[in-house]
Amino acid sequence: MSKIVFFFFFLIPHTLHHPNPTKASPPVTTAAPTKPAGLEGIIAGDSAICDVDQSSLIYRGYEIADLAANATFEEVAFLLLVGHKPTPEELAAFKHELIHERAIPDHAHDVIKRCALGAGMHPMDVLRTGVSYLAQFDEQCQDNAPEAELTKAKRLLAKIPTIIGHMQNVIDGRDFIHPDSELGHAANLLYMMTGAKPSEQEARIMDVSLILYAEHDFNASTFTTRVIAGTLSDMHGAVTGGIAALKGPLHGGANEMAMEFLREIGELSNVEAFMEKSFAEKRKIMGFGHRVYKNGDHRAGILHKLGRAYADTKGGDALKWFEIGEKVQSIMESQKSIKPNVDFPCGMTYYAMGIPVPQYTPIFVASRITGWCAHIMEQHKNNRLIRPLSNYTGPSLTKWNG
Ligand code: SDX
Repeated sequence: MSKIVFFFFFLIPHTLHHPNPTKASPPVTTAAPTKPAGLEGIIAGDSAICDVDQSSLIYRGYEIADLAANATFEEVAFLLLVGHKPTPEELAAFKHELIHERAIPDHAHDVIKRCALGAGMHPMDVLRTGVSYLAQFDEQCQDNAPEAELTKAKRLLAKIPTIIGHMQNVIDGRDFIHPDSELGHAANLLYMMTGAKPSEQEARIMDVSLILYAEHDFNASTFTTRVIAGTLSDMHGAVTGGIAALKGPLHGGANEMAMEFLREIGELSNVEAFMEKSFAEKRKIMGFGHRVYKNGDHRAGILHKLGRAYADTKGGDALKWFEIGEKVQSIMESQKSIKPNVDFPCGMTYYAMGIPVPQYTPIFVASRITGWCAHIMEQHKNNRLIRPLSNYTGPSLTKWNG
């Protein structure tokens, strides 16, 4: 994909965008620069964290299939946040610190409980509020120094599963489940949401899904965190913005809507007619398509394979949704040449594992917090305010008093 370099916009003198109307100046003849809708294909800056390309997805030099097969989420989180593969000693210390930081203050339980019981509540809003609330009790909140930011990143990584777990316990009318220090990060997240200790297979599937969701260069929510960090605002504020951006159905919210779409279809025998109707209504099929990947999302096949193998062992309802999903996928690929992104297999896999649908996108946050914090730290390390231009298309100049 030919990428237009974003700084091109900065090479054009400001006046070409806003010619000063009071000065008699020759009509501007230069054609307005191309402005791809949604900044499609624009390179908005350099980053050493991730490379998203048609041919591969790489986190700091390591290819995603390699990481999914051979690493754990804690190792990948360390790689993204610290910048290198951890030694066994570094990993042990990192894991110990995460386990130690899982707890949240009792008064935060009350705030999360009130939000989770709110009439208009949405799990991503509860999580956003929880992160923003915790900021007030982190004495390093306003400190953007590298060491302070790494510590805050680890605290957020450790505490977000606790917020998610407590929220789900309130929704299910259960007492709060305390984090289990014997469980790894992915297993503890599952335990706190469902109250049941996961099997080894379930814990591994969750661990791989967290690896797949961890980082994806300048996607909408990550770019949001960089714009906020670029004003020299704090990490909690930038993460709060990232959560708000990820909630949207065109972005992270698609994993929940992909499962809801399958549930709307209901039965394998309904798929063809339902898809025909969806196409006639020009409906966006959630979990399909991608702004960058045009030949398929490298992550989708990895998660689909794991989820389908799990559904095969479980059979029944779990298997049914994969059979419906695979039929939807074959129709999308054959009739629209649009391939699934990671959110499509995620919906079916998490559903087969009994994870409540409204927690799918919060789980995405529990993973992407690593990519967001890595980008926030990278932005602060070599900061320049992110401030693109717009092309004015409004009314021409008019005197207020005529
Ligand atoms: C994520 O950017 C990242 O890296 C994001 C992410 C990450 O890890 O951070 O990968 C995570 O957000 C994945 C995407 C999840 N969102 C969805 O699954 C929502 C459904 N997908 C679409 O809304 C869409 O594919 C987008 C938003 C993902 C990408 O959209 P683009 O690049 O703006 O493309 P487009 O909407 O302009 O579509 C181009 C054409 C259009 O046809 P025309 O109107 O030109 O005839 O393809 C069609 C679209 O209608 N199309 C779809 C479709 N996706 C594109 N048609 C039906 N269903 C779809 N899903």
